[in-house]
Amino acid sequence: MQVVVADRKEPISVTHQHLLTGIGTLLAQGRVQPSQGRLRILDIGCGDGQLIGFLHDRLTRAHPDLEIELHGFDIGEQGYNDGGQFDIATQMLASGHPGIPWRERISMISDTDPWRYPSGYFDIALSNQVLEHVADLPAFLSELRRCLSPAGVSLHVFPLAQSIVEAHCQTPFAHWIRDFDRRVEWISLLSHLGIGAYRRHRTVLGHATPRRHALETAKYIQCWTRYRSFGAIADQCRDAGLAASGGLTKGLFIAKLRSVLKRHPLDRYRPSRLPGGDWLGFMIGRYLSSSTLVIAPVSYDIGRRIAAEKAASPLRRAA
Ligand SMILES: C[S@@+](CC[C@H](N)C(=O)[O-])C[C@H]1O[C@@H](n2cnc3c(N)ncnc32)[C@H](O)[C@@H]1O
Repeated sequence: MQVVVADRKEPISVTHQHLLTGIGTLLAQGRVQPSQGRLRILDIGCGDGQLIGFLHDRLTRAHPDLEIELHGFDIGEQGYNDGGQFDIATQMLASGHPGIPWRERISMISDTDPWRYPSGYFDIALSNQVLEHVADLPAFLSELRRCLSPAGVSLHVFPLAQSIVEAHCQTPFAHWIRDFDRRVEWISLLSHLGIGAYRRHRTVLGHATPRRHALETAKYIQCWTRYRSFGAIADQCRDAGLAASGGLTKGLFIAKLRSVLKRHPLDRYRPSRLPGGDWLGFMIGRYLSSSTLVIAPVSYDIGRRIAAEKAASPLRRAA
């Protein structure tokens, strides 16, 4: 398949820049430490491969001392290959970044397959606008836990259930309405008022009328999205041996603001000087746009704690 290689002067995606700054933050904080001079990064749900290409460029330039090894995969079930994205991704990467075996680095699997990497393989895993589409979150988190090194960290940018505007149809509250018919009516009403993605989807997807657009969009939300609250995700992370935090959410807004003001992107985010500032950024930010969750393996040696408590107990000392 002929592929048009992306123009290198294309504006940089703010989300991609945000993830790059997120990686810079993890490295600067020492939360991620490359092993044997190599940093292995996985892009989960890599789509057209643009994020991989961007990170390869920037990270190899910023860290000439490190071997940057990027991998990515996507699943077949959600139309990944219907638009030829797998070929687009591998060809775009091969022509933009030659000399790397991209056909081995990028893969397509089934939603129900285990990920194709050895345990503990990655220092960093990323996903961009993926978690709100994942059907089986426990399976996803269990594979994430397995493939991350015990000292690894993952970053996930996606809208939580609280986000006000449904990202795929740009309509407020469309995903909050669980009653299917009411959802159709709501999207139809807002489309009549010129709110949402109707005009664009009329051209791109052939949604001829607001009603048609509302019905198709309601079906899309129903079938292909899974909006979850932070609490629900954090609970499932706990069950998978992972800990979740929303602390980098504010960073996306900083990245957006700097992009609008045409300021240089940051190489890392600094913790808020205001106590609780990052938490507040998450509490507000999750309503306004995508959140950024940091999800990392966590374990606790309970045997050591019990042994220490027993050793310190007065009964034991008396004996
Ligand atoms: C909105 S697209 C985002 C694609 C890409 N990350 C980007 O930013 O352009 C969502 C992607 O998530 C993928 N996806 C959904 N469920 C997944 C899963 N369980 N594991 C990996 N990828 C998944 C879909 O196949 C789709 O490519």
